[in-house]
Amino acid sequence: PLVTSKKLFEKAYKEGYAVGGFNVNNMEILQAIVEAGNEERSPLILQVSSGARKYANPVYLRKLVEAAVATTDVPIVLHLDHGDSFDMCKSCVDDGFTSVMIDASKYPFEKNIEISKQVAEYAHSKGVVVEAELGKLAGIEDAVNVAARDAIYTDPDQVAEFVEKTDVDSLAIAIGTSHGAYKFKGEPKLDFERLHKIEKLIPGFPIVLHGSSSVPQELVEKCNKYGGQLPGAKGVPEEMLREAARSAVCKINIDTDLRLALTATIREIFATSPAEFDPRKYLGPGRSAIKELVRHKIKDVLGSSGKA
Ligand code: G3H
Ligand code: 13P
Ligand code: ZN
Repeated sequence: PLVTSKKLFEKAYKEGYAVGGFNVNNMEILQAIVEAGNEERSPLILQVSSGARKYANPVYLRKLVEAAVATTDVPIVLHLDHGDSFDMCKSCVDDGFTSVMIDASKYPFEKNIEISKQVAEYAHSKGVVVEAELGKLAGIEDAVNVAARDAIYTDPDQVAEFVEKTDVDSLAIAIGTSHGAYKFKGEPKLDFERLHKIEKLIPGFPIVLHGSSSVPQELVEKCNKYGGQLPGAKGVPEEMLREAARSAVCKINIDTDLRLALTATIREIFATSPAEFDPRKYLGPGRSAIKELVRHKIKDVLGSSGKA
């Protein structure tokens, strides 16, 4: 069934695991995620970005997710990823999403509060939950020293006030993760001290980690072996994600790894079977690769197997 994340997060918080926020862009990706969650008996958060809605058409996405939900009995959240305005969030609430993210983290603190609060009021009136973001996800060149980190990462001193004033249901924080396949130049490092400080200041409140792909090196190597160019791609080590999942982090977002699994598979098939031109012969294996990856995340990293 389609559910909000309220109960999922309560259980994840209490039992020390996290639910994956997996990005959906087309039918094969959606099928892979839902088959993996179904086999692992795991709750799922299917997230759709505004880019995904533009790519696939909101009606297609909505109907595809509806079809996916009909194939399983595990609880599924349909979530807007990085909504950038009240209107975007409202359109998803009105479209049947059970959760929306308002990402007003680029605005000053007071304005972020104002927009997030407005979204929470509307969403709650329709029974929909809201994720907001405080702090900025740093790029690879940022956050090099303590002063830069303090400017970019979530300020623990703002967290309780933000949560109280906005009335949102979960909070995405910045502790050193970033989007995409190039997260670290040198050693991967997350500010766990900051995370633990934050969780103590808002006890019981679900925290979200964006930019949490691990960029598996075997997938990067496979892409590169078959004509890809992803030199130096690096992600968050799985052990760090396990540690986060045990904490107040209840949702861990993964998109890049799914893209890499699909692309590596297709590249290999194109390179090794150049006569193949039936899309099912490469999209099918691509779908299988995503499914295996998502099963691994659920079982070995997030810890949400059997929690449906
Ligand atoms: O936050 C980034 C997600 O990976 C979604 O990316 O905006 O290209 O769909 P996108
Ligand atoms: P990755 O780019 O690390 O997969 O992060 C995805 C994300 O945060 C979606 O909101
Ligand atoms: Zn994100």
